[in-house]
Amino acid sequence: MNSPVPDIRLNDGHTIPQVGFGVFQVPPPETREAVATALEVGYRHIDTAQMYQNEEGVGAAIAGSGLDRGDIFITSKLSNAAHRPDDARTAFDESLKALGTDYIDLFLIHWPLPTRYDGDFVQTWRTLEEFHRDGRARSIGVSNFTPHQLRRLFEETEVRPAVNQIEVHPYLTNDQTRAFDREHEIATEAYSPIAQNQVLTDPTVEAIARQVDRTPAQVVLRWHIQLGNVVIPKSKTPSRVRENFALFDFDLDEASMAMISDLDRGENGRIGGHPDTMDWIPRRS
Ligand SMILES: NC(=O)c1ccc[n+]([C@@H]2O[C@H](COP(=O)([O-])OP(=O)(O)OC[C@H]3O[C@@H](n4cnc5c(N)ncnc54)[C@H](OP(=O)(O)O)[C@@H]3O)[C@@H](O)[C@H]2O)c1
Repeated sequence: MNSPVPDIRLNDGHTIPQVGFGVFQVPPPETREAVATALEVGYRHIDTAQMYQNEEGVGAAIAGSGLDRGDIFITSKLSNAAHRPDDARTAFDESLKALGTDYIDLFLIHWPLPTRYDGDFVQTWRTLEEFHRDGRARSIGVSNFTPHQLRRLFEETEVRPAVNQIEVHPYLTNDQTRAFDREHEIATEAYSPIAQNQVLTDPTVEAIARQVDRTPAQVVLRWHIQLGNVVIPKSKTPSRVRENFALFDFDLDEASMAMISDLDRGENGRIGGHPDTMDWIPRRS
C-alpha cells in the first residue's frame, strides 16, 4: 500500500512518518486491538513508552499484522525510573523484549527530570548514545526538553537528538522550542496534538471545520502537518483512528492557519507537566 503520509528526514539520515499512532492511556489489555486497528487503517508509526506499560500489546499487534517489521516505525521512551546508566541498559533490553524486536526505530528520554538524579540527564543521554552506536536504537532523541536543556546536550555529548517530542496544540503552540528545534535540525513531534480533545469544541476550530467540510480533529491535525510537526494522535475509537489519518486531501489557507495559531494561551494552555519541574518517578515493577 502506498502511504499518503510524508516521511520527515531526521538529522541522522533516517526518516519518520509524519503521522503516528499514540498509545498513552490505552490500557494494556486493549492495546493490541487498538494498534491492530491503526495498522489496518494505514498507520505505520506507533508511539509507545515504558511508562505506558503497553509495549507488549504494541509488539503483539505488529507480530499479528503480517507486515514486515521494516515497514513499521516504532518509538519508545525511557522510564523516569531508569535514568541511571545501568538501569537504562536493563530497561532498554526490556523494551526490545516486550516489543518483540531487536531494534527500536526511535528511543527517547521521556522527561529530562532536572530536579532528579542530580540533574544529570547528560549521563542518561550518553547511555542512549550507546544504544545508537550498537544499532539497537536506529535514532535517539528526547522528549519534553527545553532549549536550555538541549544546549547542555550539545555542549557535553556527541550525538545530536534527532527528535524532541513536546506538547504542542493550538492552546500551547510552543513556538520558542519549535523554532529552536528547527534551527538545530531537530524534528519536533507534537504530543497531545488535539489537546486531549479540549480544542475540538473551540468556536474558531469549529468554524474552520465547517468551512473546509472536515472535522475539528482533522483541521487541528492538518494545522500541525502544515507547520511541519510530526503528530501522534491517540484514540481507542476505530472511527476516530480512521478520521485522524485522513489529512492529506485538503489544505488550510494562510488565514485559517494564522487563526488557529492565534488560539495560543502560552503556559495557561499546557495540559501535561512542565519540563523544568516534572519530577514524577514510577515505582519499578
Ligand atoms: N512524551 C510525552 O511526555 C507524552 C505526553 C503525552 C502524550 N504523548 C504521546 O502523544 C500521544 C497523543 O497524546 P494524548 O494521548 O495525550 O492526546 P491527544 O491525542 O491530543 O488526544 C487523545 C484524546 O482525544 C480523543 N480523540 C482522539 N481523536 C479524536 C477525534 N477525532 N474526535 C474526538 N476526540 C478524539 C481520544 O478519545 P478516545 O481514545 O476515547 O477516542 C482521547 O481522549 C500519546 O498517545 C502519546 O503517544 C507523549
